[in-house]
Amino acid sequence: EKGGYDYFMLKEIHEQPNTLRDCMRGRINADEGWIRLGGLEDYASKISKAKRFVMIGCGTSWHAGLIGEYLFEDLARIPVEVEYASEFRYRNPVISEKDVVIAISQSGETADTLAALEIAKEKGAFLYGVVNSVGSSIARTTHAGSYIHAGPEIGVASTKAFTGQVTLLTLMALYLAHHRGTISEQYYRKLITELTLIPEKIKKVLQQDDKIKYIAAEIKDRQNAIYLGRGYNFPVALEGALKLKEISYIHAEGYPAAEMKHGPIALIDENMPVIVIATNRSAYDKIVSNIQEVKARKGTVIAVVPEGDDTISRIADYTIEIPETEDPLSPLLSVILLQLLSYYTAVMRGCNVDQPRNLAKSVTVE
Ligand code: M6R
Repeated sequence: EKGGYDYFMLKEIHEQPNTLRDCMRGRINADEGWIRLGGLEDYASKISKAKRFVMIGCGTSWHAGLIGEYLFEDLARIPVEVEYASEFRYRNPVISEKDVVIAISQSGETADTLAALEIAKEKGAFLYGVVNSVGSSIARTTHAGSYIHAGPEIGVASTKAFTGQVTLLTLMALYLAHHRGTISEQYYRKLITELTLIPEKIKKVLQQDDKIKYIAAEIKDRQNAIYLGRGYNFPVALEGALKLKEISYIHAEGYPAAEMKHGPIALIDENMPVIVIATNRSAYDKIVSNIQEVKARKGTVIAVVPEGDDTISRIADYTIEIPETEDPLSPLLSVILLQLLSYYTAVMRGCNVDQPRNLAKSVTVE
């Protein structure tokens, strides 16, 4: 049932071109320029009038929410807050019927997310679910929602559910942006077309196995790692670090690249691998100077760069390319490399990738 792969995680990483197609099937048409999301359309006027969106989730789903924040604010110009469900539920949050609360969950059974939803419901918010597991508790508690259609995810480390969540949030952001007239028709069309090309581009990313194994061999005996990204790639840095720590047990931290000089830079020496997600077209020069800061302190730089980049490849120790795309969609490509990097590092360390110690696939206790 692992389809010839050594672990479910690797199988699920490789399924992503298909799971994203499933997520988008019938919901997007690039030629005609439309997006349809049943759950959203039924409540479109209510949802697009919302004063604020609050995204709640845990772990990887919380990271998807952070990307959602960038997408919704950048494209649809709606203020967004992203909350850990466990914190939200215990701090008497200010929520009213003017808010739309989006719960993001693969399993649909995470206890903290479910409890946070109940609180938001009591306070009158409109609840929207972005869930994988059909008929799950979270799906049943929300007023409306959209399934991500990633199929069962067995590996404890979430991979295809994450890209499914991000794809769904991208569809929502684009739908709302169009509805509210906050982006130009031309840019809307461009992003829709690019989004439908992402599955093919993921296939190209997946072909870089050998290069990633080579880099995994470089970090497998390290004690620590730092992940850096800016803008849309900041949440990707957090997700890359979580993936590495949960399956390989290497301590890893993700930071916004510019935050480095406010503390973490003190950690950098020749023993520190620094993975920089540098695919942003905007703020490119800033990322280059962040990389120079790491090199000046003898850190090992592993950079994820856009295809054909030759500036960063001259400074970084290792570079891995992703195909060209628009900034808001780049997390869907760059995260795949980080999933593979964690996977191969963990395998080289002899870890049980599908069942990391101390972790459960769905956390139904608080
Ligand atoms: O099922 P959920 O999406 O609600 O789960 C949330 C987290 O427990 C989950 O994403 C966890 O962080 C994963 N092990 C990450 O790979």
